[in-house]
Amino acid sequence: MKITNDIVYVGVNDRKIDLFEGQYDVPNGMAYNSYVILDKKIAVMDTVDASFTHEWLDNVVAALGGRKPDYLVVQHMEPDHSANILNFLNAFPSAVVVSSAKAFTMMQNFFGKDFADRRIVVGEGSTLELGKHVLTFVTAPMVHWPEVIMTYDSADKVLFSADGFGKFGATDADEDWACEARRYYFGIVGKYGAQVQAVLKKAANLDIEKICPLHGPVLTEDLPYYLNLYNIWSSYGVETDGVCICYTSVYGHTKAAVELLADKLKAKGCPKIAVNDLARCDMAEAVEDAFRYGKIVLATTTYNADIFPFMKEFILHLTERNFQNKTIGFIENGSWAPMAIKTMQNMLAASKNLTYCENAVHIKSAVNDQNKQEIEALAEELCKEYLARQDSTADKNDLKALFNIGYGLYVVTSSDGKKDNGLIVNTVSQVTSTPNRVAVTINKQNYSHHVIKQSGVMNVNCLSVDAPFSVFENFGFRSGRTVDKFENTEIFRSDNGLVFLPMYINSFMSLKVESYVDLGTHGMFICSVTEARVISKAETMTYAYYQNNVKPKPQTEGKKGYVCKICGYVYEGENLPDDFVCPLCKHGASDFEPIK
Ligand code: FEO
Repeated sequence: MKITNDIVYVGVNDRKIDLFEGQYDVPNGMAYNSYVILDKKIAVMDTVDASFTHEWLDNVVAALGGRKPDYLVVQHMEPDHSANILNFLNAFPSAVVVSSAKAFTMMQNFFGKDFADRRIVVGEGSTLELGKHVLTFVTAPMVHWPEVIMTYDSADKVLFSADGFGKFGATDADEDWACEARRYYFGIVGKYGAQVQAVLKKAANLDIEKICPLHGPVLTEDLPYYLNLYNIWSSYGVETDGVCICYTSVYGHTKAAVELLADKLKAKGCPKIAVNDLARCDMAEAVEDAFRYGKIVLATTTYNADIFPFMKEFILHLTERNFQNKTIGFIENGSWAPMAIKTMQNMLAASKNLTYCENAVHIKSAVNDQNKQEIEALAEELCKEYLARQDSTADKNDLKALFNIGYGLYVVTSSDGKKDNGLIVNTVSQVTSTPNRVAVTINKQNYSHHVIKQSGVMNVNCLSVDAPFSVFENFGFRSGRTVDKFENTEIFRSDNGLVFLPMYINSFMSLKVESYVDLGTHGMFICSVTEARVISKAETMTYAYYQNNVKPKPQTEGKKGYVCKICGYVYEGENLPDDFVCPLCKHGASDFEPIK
């Protein structure tokens, strides 16, 4: 089979194999690919599995058309590709082996010789000229062994990708590429996402029209589709929106909970639900699903003071493949001492960026009414986004949405003619660029509002992430009417005569008020920019950064009541009055939340 005018496929299909790599079911067989590049010189790309020596050599001889090969390029030393190196070299005594240094060490280990007298060692960027075809080698360590090289032929724009972009199944299997390529990827290369990402970055600089892997079909069309899937898989991203449930069940009670959960997920609009019974399914399919979806539910029983063996094995498959970036829900069943959730969480403890659902299901033997409520709550939590998307189930008055508007934090400085003043605001935004117009909104109760309304000028100081909490205490929790916020501060002034902060800002701009909009409680100043300076490259302080990194954690332990989200002030009491104003930062009741 011709791949291009000069590249011929000489691989073989293995329809007799039962388990690939001794563990993976391959119901549609396996392909061991090999290619011949015909030019002034001839290169053969890899050999095949030991069971196909003669079939493969016959293919090679047919492709050579009476000529002799000059090179055997060995991209990968795993025996499914390297088993026939010796047979090839015996059949073609003038051929030279081209491979990485690590591969030659492995040849010594496999064959007792490293072909020192007939070899070319190549590394990153090495080239091999065949004539018009010039092969450039790209190292691909751990995709999927450390010695792997890939090969780019710039003449035909072909990437020989070793195990990358391979799949289970013979080349003539009539099946979806992604399904068996995904199972292959996560089974074989899943642990090495970072290394695959590194190779994808190198591939991005190559003009590729065809990908020739060592397993599965040659990829010739819609290459962005395959590259995108490899990018998602190797970055442990979400490929398919939905929930994957993996479970074990001894007498059917855990299974009943899983089935009820699946029904509820479906009813709540979950777009796809994959359910795997780990004792009966192909474990590699379940592993593939766990990496494919962003939300996973693990359901199992306590067993021998541990968890059921198939679940234990499953979680080990996940963790040894760098399982990460998932939301996980749990269902446990234990007739007298349920501890499965704790055990599963311990097994997952080293996995990065896992979020556990707040709702879990704790079954004691059989599903009861309490468990049904727990399942309902878990389904609700897992389907939050699906419910919110649908017209019929969405809460269309959920004003918490407003909390998700991103804000920066700024000190607005002004002067009443006698004293410099400043306050913290998060309501600064550039509203037009031709001309530049900046809107600043300030609570009318703040002295600064009064001062700016009269003076018509202000400076907006953009706080940077190095600003300590004391800056917020100074400018946010006190009134400039009663204190001098610049006392003991070195004073710098902009051209408009107003102060700007000497520290903790990355820039400031001087604004002149052009118009004013009365918003009831607040006033919005629409301003032109009269001066603008960048002070540092530090990142701007956002409200979220302040909440997570600057604001001290409120002392709520053992207390009942409400906590101010702005400054952490704790109000102890059953009910927070609607007109309550925080004595520290002066924010109202809407900025308080109940202590949990
Ligand atoms: Fe297809 Fe890693 O061998």
